[in-house]
Amino acid sequence: MNQQESSSGYAMDRQREIYIAGMSGQTPKIPIALDALEKVAKERISPKAFAYVAGGAGKELTVSSNRSDFAQWQIMPRMLRDVSKVDYTIELFGKKHRSPLMLSPVGVLEMAHPKADVAVGKAAANMEVPYIISNQASMTMEATAQAMGNASRWFQLYWSKSYELVESFIQRAENSGCEAIVVTLDTTMLGWRVRDLDMAYLPFLRGKGIAQYTSDPVFQKLMDEPETEPRPKNKITLDTFVSLFELMKAYPGGFFKNLTSGRPLKAVRTFINLYTKPSLNWSDLQFLQERTKLPIILKGILHPQDAQIAIDHGVSGIIVSNHGGRQVDGAISSISALPGIMEVVKDQIPVILDSGVRTGSDVVKALALGAKAVCIGRPYVYGLALDGQAGVETVLKNLLSDFELNMRLSGYKSITELQPEILRFVGNTK
Ligand code: GLV
Repeated sequence: MNQQESSSGYAMDRQREIYIAGMSGQTPKIPIALDALEKVAKERISPKAFAYVAGGAGKELTVSSNRSDFAQWQIMPRMLRDVSKVDYTIELFGKKHRSPLMLSPVGVLEMAHPKADVAVGKAAANMEVPYIISNQASMTMEATAQAMGNASRWFQLYWSKSYELVESFIQRAENSGCEAIVVTLDTTMLGWRVRDLDMAYLPFLRGKGIAQYTSDPVFQKLMDEPETEPRPKNKITLDTFVSLFELMKAYPGGFFKNLTSGRPLKAVRTFINLYTKPSLNWSDLQFLQERTKLPIILKGILHPQDAQIAIDHGVSGIIVSNHGGRQVDGAISSISALPGIMEVVKDQIPVILDSGVRTGSDVVKALALGAKAVCIGRPYVYGLALDGQAGVETVLKNLLSDFELNMRLSGYKSITELQPEILRFVGNTK
């Protein structure tokens, strides 16, 4: 970010770029409205990939309320306040960031684009937006970290059944320059995702989205342990061969070697046995705290009492999230959960909001209600599907511009000016 940009903003240049291209008949390849992206991306990726990315739990009530509940608050813009020079940088865990935007961890990005996590990491680095690398990534955290240079990255941890594997992931995240560990709390098992179930498709079983595991020395060792779970019996059909072919291709090492080694199937079986840990509970946190000096951030907090318990356990931050509505259908939307959480947390630790952010005004509202930053998920995946790294960058450029214009036009030069009082609650108070 250059000096000019930090003081005079960026959005007007972006508008100019788009309108001037329009003079030669060019309209944006990536729709400007992030909500509209979903429809276009649906035409570009396979139905299975689309179902996995777009889908949520049950009737997807929470998927929609995450977005629509932002309308419960309205911004009351202030006038005549000289917004020629602005500064929307933030500081998180001692590090300064260009904006309050972050990229949520999203798994199996190879279903959107072959360059997957590496493309997203490069886009995040170019746009100076921190990236939370997924535990269910298509590429290893080392590869993504290398592509990102010195840019900010955190690591998302899914707590598996093996403590040794958890420890190894943490160690690798530290070695890969990740600046925080984000523990996802809400996925101790997968939600009832109707779209995926109807297609009977789970990408991990095809060897997709398990790169952090297959590249891990502890996981490789666990693969060699005798199997304790009985092997599922399945009818052999043509589709069985197609699935196996996909799996051989996805596993590192080359198709023919994989065909003879049996490792890819072993990897999937081991993964299924370890993936989630339903017994995860507050006392597990100590294990992490004893093994890393990095900030530990809990993702998936929605209840104020859980926010209090998190603080009592000495965590460094909270991400208010319902996993994009993918876990509990009818769970409270993230934006509706935020005020209750802020009442408990106050300024003790940073709170970040994830799930449902689609516009610059959503970002303003989340920050006014107390979030220090916001994460976006699906919109960048659709950008990736449409135009690879450039697509992710475009999505970020547009959201940053939209945010900046809403800030300036509302009369706010810095994020510290945002307080709940700048909003009016027009939602249902019952
Ligand atoms: C997690 O892996 C998800 O699919 O949400």
